[in-house]
Amino acid sequence: MSKTDTPRDKSNRVLIFDTTLRDGEQSPGISLNKQEKLEIAHQLARLGVDVIEAGFPITSPGDFESVQAIAREVEGPVICGLARTSKQDIEAAWNAVSDAARPRIHTFIATSDIHIERKLQTTRDDVKGQVRAAVSQARELCEDVEFSPEDGSRSDIAYMAEVIQIALDEGATTINVPDTVGYTMPREYMAMFDELYRLVPGLHDVVVSVHCHDDLGLAVANSLAGVEAGARQVECAINGIGERAGNASLEEIAMLLHTREPSLGLWSGIETTEIARTSRLVSRLTGYQVQPNKAIVGRNAFAHEAGIHQDGVLKERTTYEIMDATTVGLRSNSIVLGKHSGRHALSNALQEMGFELDGQALNTAFKRFKDLADRKKQVTAMDLEALVTDELREEIPGYALEWFEVDATSLRPPHARVSIALPEGGSATGSFTGDGPIDAVFQAINVATSIAAKLSEFTIGAVTEGQDALGEVSIVVEAHGFTGAGQGVSTDIIDAAARAYVRALSVALARSQAGEALGLSEATP
Ligand code: KIV
Ligand code: ZN
Repeated sequence: MSKTDTPRDKSNRVLIFDTTLRDGEQSPGISLNKQEKLEIAHQLARLGVDVIEAGFPITSPGDFESVQAIAREVEGPVICGLARTSKQDIEAAWNAVSDAARPRIHTFIATSDIHIERKLQTTRDDVKGQVRAAVSQARELCEDVEFSPEDGSRSDIAYMAEVIQIALDEGATTINVPDTVGYTMPREYMAMFDELYRLVPGLHDVVVSVHCHDDLGLAVANSLAGVEAGARQVECAINGIGERAGNASLEEIAMLLHTREPSLGLWSGIETTEIARTSRLVSRLTGYQVQPNKAIVGRNAFAHEAGIHQDGVLKERTTYEIMDATTVGLRSNSIVLGKHSGRHALSNALQEMGFELDGQALNTAFKRFKDLADRKKQVTAMDLEALVTDELREEIPGYALEWFEVDATSLRPPHARVSIALPEGGSATGSFTGDGPIDAVFQAINVATSIAAKLSEFTIGAVTEGQDALGEVSIVVEAHGFTGAGQGVSTDIIDAAARAYVRALSVALARSQAGEALGLSEATP
């Protein structure tokens, strides 16, 4: 039932296609391992997305394995793998998703002249042939096939319509027309769909989809325009991550449909109370911080600074709030454990939050919980979430922090010593006298690993409010020509920073090794 309690019209349901793990993972510096991708995919299922684009299986064995694991484990949404039009791409996508209860192959090729001539260095006719062959191959393997004419918004409409007709003739079930470079404007995108519906009447019988990038800050507005023109699937990503300026933010799309449903008449199946948690998980695992004033999930999204506003909200919340923070899962911190809570209470709390931990993972979580409870009066759901997510990162292969010590006084520059477990086995120590305690630890890590890494971003935050809050550090480093992002959580900010630095180094190292194997540098398109 809708908010007005009248039955909702099914034809106005907007499908939410989440591409956090594919387009989102293409953001510079992001490199998620299989365990982290699975964790995000399970959370996306709890959030109620309709489709999870889990990755681009041909691009690396790691991506293939992650998509396959998600297809095998995650229940609920359709699990989709991306493929170019080549036979091998489509086979890889199918092999990765085929174990899902509801698999989908998403194949794409560019239809704009600039992409056809300059990037693909081929002809319009050849592209048509590739689409025919790819969609027909995909359709033989899978009932659910999506086709995207890449750079659709800059393509010649008549030509793109012919290509779409071919995809439909071969059995495509979803047609997605992307604004790949974030160039279009709402009225243009809407007009493009109007014209496509006119030129290709068969579009009325399949799902039409939008996929917008945010280069001009219009991704959500353009997506809405597409939906108003008749599209019923929106491709988007948590926190708006994605290539360059990113994709349309899932949370903005979901809350736009939720808040303005009476006017739009459109709705989605998103469980909005899971939004904040999903946003935090993605931010932690990707190392991409959410800007404070970000709509819906920024820490100021529901904060009121001006006295007049605070006064108004105290008298009547809706004077200045169009949404209730609890609707997006903010300010819901009902789980509280304390110093005397045992393993069982922790396990129950984690289960209630959707984390299935047992054996060694539960032991480690319990040890970290006890350390925290010794220092913090009340351990909340947000603290537990931060600790458990932090533990997941231990599975990133590469370096690991064994211990550190810092001598810091106001009389001498601080001196740090560290011990690092090495990826090839064994450990190495390093020491350094730095400008501050954190700088000394970072430089000592460089000495121990013999990597001249450069710190390019460093952010400190607190998981919850209060003096005893857990600290959370986010770092981006550059090493061997590649960037890596890492985060660390601890009650000791130097410990959190050291963990984050070592993880960021491991990510940069893994990316440089993968890049070397393919003969790439990060600058390679
Ligand atoms: O932006 C884009 O065009 C894409 C396609 C693969 C859909 O990401
Ligand atoms: Zn894209």
